[in-house]
Amino acid sequence: MSKITRFGISMDTKLLEQFDSFIARQGYSNRSEAIRDLVRSRLVKEKWQDENQQTVGTITIIYDHHKRELQEKLTSYQHQHHDLVISAMHVHLDHDNCLEVMAVKGAVSTIKKLADEIISAKGVKHGKLVMSTTGKEF
Ligand code: NI
Repeated sequence: MSKITRFGISMDTKLLEQFDSFIARQGYSNRSEAIRDLVRSRLVKEKWQDENQQTVGTITIIYDHHKRELQEKLTSYQHQHHDLVISAMHVHLDHDNCLEVMAVKGAVSTIKKLADEIISAKGVKHGKLVMSTTGKEF
């Protein structure tokens, strides 16, 4: 485990009240844990600016399974990029809709490009790329 450093933070009382109310709603047990998460989240966001950075994440999509070409297209994307898509989960949501979550790993630029291609495919109703971190860097 890495070394822990304690430090004090000065903050406007009103801002702190709002922060305390926010962390209570989020379910944090203390300010330190909440601040650590916020800092990590901000650092991860900054890392994504570096297109060569390695990242892990998920691409989540909802699509109409009646669009046959789309299902083939999605499978084809996953085969073409088998080095990036490390796992996938498919859920038959209802009569018309499928939910698919793909776990991805690779350079930020290639992950973003793949996600854009998948999310913008005709028949995809909603899609989102979430990039994360193993926490090793932070
Ligand atoms: Ni399905």
